[in-house]
Amino acid sequence: MHQLAKEFLLPLFEQPEEPGIYLACENDRLCLLDNTKKPLMKLHLDFAHGRLGYRLKGSGSEDLLKAIGKLPDEAVILDATMGFAEDTLLLAKTGKRLIACEQDPVVFLLVREALQLSPVENLQIQYGNAIDLMPSCHADVIYLDPMFLRKIKAKEKKEIQFLQQIVGPATPAEDLLKAALDHAKMKVVVKRASKAAPISGPKPSYQIEGKSVRFDVYRVD
Ligand SMILES: C[S@@+](CC[C@H](N)C(=O)[O-])C[C@H]1O[C@@H](n2cnc3c(N)ncnc32)[C@H](O)[C@@H]1O
Repeated sequence: MHQLAKEFLLPLFEQPEEPGIYLACENDRLCLLDNTKKPLMKLHLDFAHGRLGYRLKGSGSEDLLKAIGKLPDEAVILDATMGFAEDTLLLAKTGKRLIACEQDPVVFLLVREALQLSPVENLQIQYGNAIDLMPSCHADVIYLDPMFLRKIKAKEKKEIQFLQQIVGPATPAEDLLKAALDHAKMKVVVKRASKAAPISGPKPSYQIEGKSVRFDVYRVD
């Protein structure tokens, strides 16, 4: 923990000092603890079992893959807003070279550890701001899932509850889209809530509508 705290500039505590969310080490594994909840809420990120494990093995017919479409063998996909990598695991099923980046250190560390335990061959993850990393990724397709801030329901998936609370201020979606359109060679795919307007800026070339989310696809020619 000392090494991680130093490398990722995170404050280190022997014991939680006040109510809040902490990255902790339990049985040699990282986990998130929320000691404001009773009973204590814990999150271990596990890509081999449970809901996320299903995604790793699942059939891959989801709308996101439709929006990504057919790509040449050598295509590179950049998932610029990795979060807890749920969509990243789906994108990995394309078999294309995949780069995923995340700017929040705690989220990045949890995903990095989960991938060490359940490696994904064609996936490379990078820590940092996607806007700075885009020029060196040479991606054909850039995927964006900007955090849409909304009220969290008590029944919401644990990963979403934690993610909403721990990540810092999101990069404005317009800035991410502009950078992605400048750097993607083929297309940019943006996940939106189904009723949300497209990100302000250029109009999407087409949309793939789902029940609760929509994918706006921007062709780059
Ligand atoms: C809605 S979540 C993504 C969820 C993800 N698609 C999934 O399936 O788990 C958005 C994530 O993007 C990250 N993020 C926002 N702006 C970013 C940026 N400029 N560079 C890298 N990561 C960013 C946030 O820290 C957050 O973890």
